[in-house]
Amino acid sequence: MLLKDSSLIAVRDVESLRRRVQAWRRDNLSIALVPTMGALHKGHITLMDRAKKMADRVIATIFVNPKQFGPREDFAAYPRQENADFELLNAAGVDLLFAPDVPAMYPQGFATSVHVSGVSDVLDGVARPGHFDGVATVVTKLLLQALPDIALFGEKDYQQLAVIRRFVADLNIPVDIIQVPTVRDPDGLAMSSRNAYLTPAERAIAPGIYAAISLAARQIAAGEDIAQTLAAAKTTLTQQGFGTIDYVDARHAETLQPLTSRDEPGRILAAVHLGRARLIDNVAIPK
Ligand code: PAJ
Repeated sequence: MLLKDSSLIAVRDVESLRRRVQAWRRDNLSIALVPTMGALHKGHITLMDRAKKMADRVIATIFVNPKQFGPREDFAAYPRQENADFELLNAAGVDLLFAPDVPAMYPQGFATSVHVSGVSDVLDGVARPGHFDGVATVVTKLLLQALPDIALFGEKDYQQLAVIRRFVADLNIPVDIIQVPTVRDPDGLAMSSRNAYLTPAERAIAPGIYAAISLAARQIAAGEDIAQTLAAAKTTLTQQGFGTIDYVDARHAETLQPLTSRDEPGRILAAVHLGRARLIDNVAIPK
């Protein structure tokens, strides 16, 4: 599919993707991959912009991956807006869009799963059983399908990044993983495709997550008790009108194991329900 007035090409099958990549390789061009599930916003486009600066050619992927959604999660409802996404990617100067359908990624008989122990078994790994197996499986496939030099991921999904770094190292996948800081709305809310689920009233309180974890990070850095600080952050969120809090936790920035000392690199991570949405966010604990 090649639309008029656009240089972006969309392909839906692995063979077409590989043909394009091979042609670029013959010309000695470097290649960046930016995997997404679509419903693109400024956070995603920031990844594309960064990719363009770092490589000669940029491939974006859009695939709402059924394997990373639980049975009671929002796979069917997940926002899909491929035409608008195409225009955004074209305007961002992306060269190729790979947008396979489910049978192209998981044909009849597909039987393989990538499981990363340890870093997948905490936080969202507990709240969303099987989620990171789905992410690790699809990202492994995308990396092997495109064989890029670099692949870019957002800090917004901090645990996802840790999982991806782990299996890329463990499986010797020859790609550099590039970490891109979280892009936020002016009021601090991390941009997310799932923010579309928020009512105006919920949207008004949603920035409370970033405010609460930022305050907690500063307090822990200043020497306040970790457990008490986290408990106070949760109380604040509940008082502000948030729903179920899956976790607000201070973790080692790399292993995501509980933070035992302030000398370790630390990260505060949170997952909080608000109306139909489940919002996640994270910040570094300053040194
Ligand atoms: P998706 O949620 O569409 O996100 C695609 C990429 O954009 C991820 O690397 C994510 O961390 C990044 N991103 C999302 N919001 C961001 C923000 N506000 N600032 C910076 N980066 C942001 O994450 C996934 O899709 C999927 O799990 C995927 C990796 C594509 C595998 O299916």
